[in-house]
Amino acid sequence: MGRKIGMWMYQNGGGDKIEEKMVKKLKERGIESVTGLNLRHAIAKKGHIYHGKRKVDKLDLFFSYNAGEQTQYQVFLYQALSRVIPTINSYEAFALTEDKFQTSYLLQQHGVATSEFQLCHRDDTEHLNRNMKKWKKMVYKPTDGWGGVGLTKIESQETLDMLLPFLNQTDLRFFYVEKFVKYDNTDYRVDVVDGKFVGCYGRKASKRDWRTNVTSGGSVFKREPNDEVVNLALKAAKVCGADIAGVDIIYDQEREEYVVLEVNGIPAFATPEQEKMGLDFNELKIDLIVDLVDRKTKKKNKKETK
Ligand SMILES: Nc1ncnc2c1ncn2[C@@H]1O[C@H](COP(=O)(O)OP(=O)(O)O)[C@@H](O)[C@H]1O
Ligand SMILES: [Mg+2]
Repeated sequence: MGRKIGMWMYQNGGGDKIEEKMVKKLKERGIESVTGLNLRHAIAKKGHIYHGKRKVDKLDLFFSYNAGEQTQYQVFLYQALSRVIPTINSYEAFALTEDKFQTSYLLQQHGVATSEFQLCHRDDTEHLNRNMKKWKKMVYKPTDGWGGVGLTKIESQETLDMLLPFLNQTDLRFFYVEKFVKYDNTDYRVDVVDGKFVGCYGRKASKRDWRTNVTSGGSVFKREPNDEVVNLALKAAKVCGADIAGVDIIYDQEREEYVVLEVNGIPAFATPEQEKMGLDFNELKIDLIVDLVDRKTKKKNKKETK
């Protein structure tokens, strides 16, 4: 029987066209794709995960690539599915990269430079205050956010004092804060697939914001990385066990070194507009993903025929 994989891919920003290309290239290798496989509509019963009549767990692999439309339910089933069939990314890597604290912690453990951080209990204002004194400026981050949403720059003890009662009203158990890194308001986004460098671009914060995210008004520009940036990204992706990763890097002007801000497990392909600007890594990225799917599904077939 031929190989068949399930795919759930974002459709906006040119995602639909990328999906088409990927499906075509997979077909050339004898791999059929079931697209639009949104686990949001799946149910689990009798030891299987059903999407309509299809048993999703009978597929050879599940490719999950839709950060924007992800729900808790979808993630819950993704976890169950990953125990039975290969997924890209693996659920472990996916879950890890969804959480900034867990990621920074692991990266630091492996000697990858990140911004200095502290995680403390919500009632532990003593440690927060101490850090405020030491760092002068810090950033409060929701550990599971993206697009710069919820990030709060704390520039003085007064701001912290003002913020704490608000944070205490939320049901958060802990606070994750980072030292505010002095940098030039630009970053590197380095894409990695299967341990290989795919491409790089930069983002620059708008004049009105300190965050480089496009959703915070930042703009994308073509940017060549140096070896240091590439190697840092490759190492970060490896430590996270992420088959696919988009690593965000900034240059810390005080420490005089590059630091990893976060690892994204579902980094967007270049949009058609960005491709026009010269971000030309989409083809390579598709090819590397197709290679990866091919390899991961081959192994399984071999096992079965033994
Ligand atoms: N510790 C920091 N110091 C200075 N700027 C930061 C720091 N952390 C994040 N930023 C800025 O905020 C942006 C968003 O932070 P990031 O950790 O990547 O979260 P998100 O998942 O929301 O993109 C970064 O691209 C960077 O411009
Ligand atoms: Mg980011």
